[in-house]
Amino acid sequence: MAVAPGVAYWPGRLRPQEQAALLAEIMARLKDAPFYRPAMPGSGALLSVEMTNFGPLGWLTDQAKGYRYESTHPVTGAPWPQIPGILLRLWTETTAYSAPPEACLVNLYRGPARMGLHRDADEEALDAPVLSVSLGDTGLFRFGGPTRRASTRTLKLASGDVLAFGGPARLMYHGIDRIQAGSSSLIAGGGRINLTLRRVTKPQPEKEATG
Ligand code: SIN
Ligand code: FE2
Repeated sequence: MAVAPGVAYWPGRLRPQEQAALLAEIMARLKDAPFYRPAMPGSGALLSVEMTNFGPLGWLTDQAKGYRYESTHPVTGAPWPQIPGILLRLWTETTAYSAPPEACLVNLYRGPARMGLHRDADEEALDAPVLSVSLGDTGLFRFGGPTRRASTRTLKLASGDVLAFGGPARLMYHGIDRIQAGSSSLIAGGGRINLTLRRVTKPQPEKEATG
């Protein structure tokens, strides 16, 4: 369902069984790629959200080097685990993009964790949409336009909801105001996990066969 130009929303796209299966895939990867608290560039203030990544590239931020993609976990130094197959299939089913996602950022929101309004702009492949999958407690997702001043709307992203933003909405401001504690029992100990799939590098154009 289109909720704004370039913004597609599939409430309940993952059934409860699929949500549980995806959560199990995530949990199995956390041993190798544990959640950590990233720091803001400059100030070094810690984010309230805990993060990890799956895929060949992971998004991270720290005080010294700022926002970027890296192929290894900043704490363990190990390569990120693979993106779960469920998510790769979802990318194929919901985006018309010619290449697979390279990054799957995993955000964990517990208690008062939130994410301020920002744009996802660290990717070269801005022609690819961002695909977001929510698990666990409902998050109040605020989204607006290409500038901070544009008016915003709120969507309540519940467990199993899938959202894509691309085209005219690819660089829209968005964030999570708060989560609704206790709204889901999927995650032990409560909280919300959001997965965002992104293509980072521009896919190589198909080579013409030459004789
Ligand atoms: C993000 O923009 O990185 C996260 C959005 C969300 O948690 O739904
Ligand atoms: Fe984002």
